[in-house]
Amino acid sequence: MTMTSRFRTVETQPARSKREYLMCAPTYFDVVYAINDWMDPTVPVDRVLAQRQWQSLVDTYRQLGHVVHLINPAPGLPDMVFVADSGLVVDGVALGARYRTKERGPEADHVLRWFEDNGFRRPLRPRYVNEGGGDLLLVGETILAGTGFRTDERAHTEAEVHLGRRAVTLRLIDPRYYHLNTALGVLDDNTIAYLPEAFDQRSAALLRSMFPDAVVATEDDTRSLGLNLVSDGHHVVLSAQATGLADRLHDRGYDPVPVDMSEFAKSGGGIRCCTLDLNGWSRGVRS
Ligand code: ARG
Repeated sequence: MTMTSRFRTVETQPARSKREYLMCAPTYFDVVYAINDWMDPTVPVDRVLAQRQWQSLVDTYRQLGHVVHLINPAPGLPDMVFVADSGLVVDGVALGARYRTKERGPEADHVLRWFEDNGFRRPLRPRYVNEGGGDLLLVGETILAGTGFRTDERAHTEAEVHLGRRAVTLRLIDPRYYHLNTALGVLDDNTIAYLPEAFDQRSAALLRSMFPDAVVATEDDTRSLGLNLVSDGHHVVLSAQATGLADRLHDRGYDPVPVDMSEFAKSGGGIRCCTLDLNGWSRGVRS
């Protein structure tokens, strides 16, 4: 199949590992409240354009050979398109979410029910505030766990116990990067890209020592939420505006696949937020 990247027209390779993602259509997407610094309810959202951008993300994943599952959007939940924030799945075990803000609270119930209805193991509604894949990112066997704005640090231990993976706490300090996945993107089992300034000194030092080969991002890369990316280990689907980051990823041997999600940036969300990685779970392997 042929896809256009900003570098060349590429014959995309079938995905090295097929991924399964959960996504939610932006039928009710809007910015009607402000719960992060990106949101301004006086700036109108173009819902038709948002729908088109989201669909092109779905199409991109499918063209790359991945499977996209869909959860029904619910009226009155304009942020439900950012479904990644509603949970984390590891080896078929599902951890749900508990939102910090009342505006997003009910999203967690819908996604927890989806986990239950689709045969995930031990779906759990966490006790502490936990914004799922917004703040919890699996890198190989380790969960990188953000805190500072949304997810409660105690939720990191809860995730560790429930999912059976070590969680490493990272503290975010800049309100523009209020979720871990706005400041850090996972490229493969051993590599990340991140913006050091978004973290406190201890966390930045920890990331430096854990990932000496990390791609270090700049504020220019993050302006369009460039780190809010989804990688299958080879193709890196990222914001079309993050051209500098795409160049550096290309130099490192990755295949950047740009998708324009500009409407969603008005809400502080991007590609990764719209994509809940089911991490190898498959409908065929239910228990
Ligand atoms: N408006 C949403 C919020 O503030 C955007 C969430 C986007 N998700 C993310 N992981 N950054 O909660």
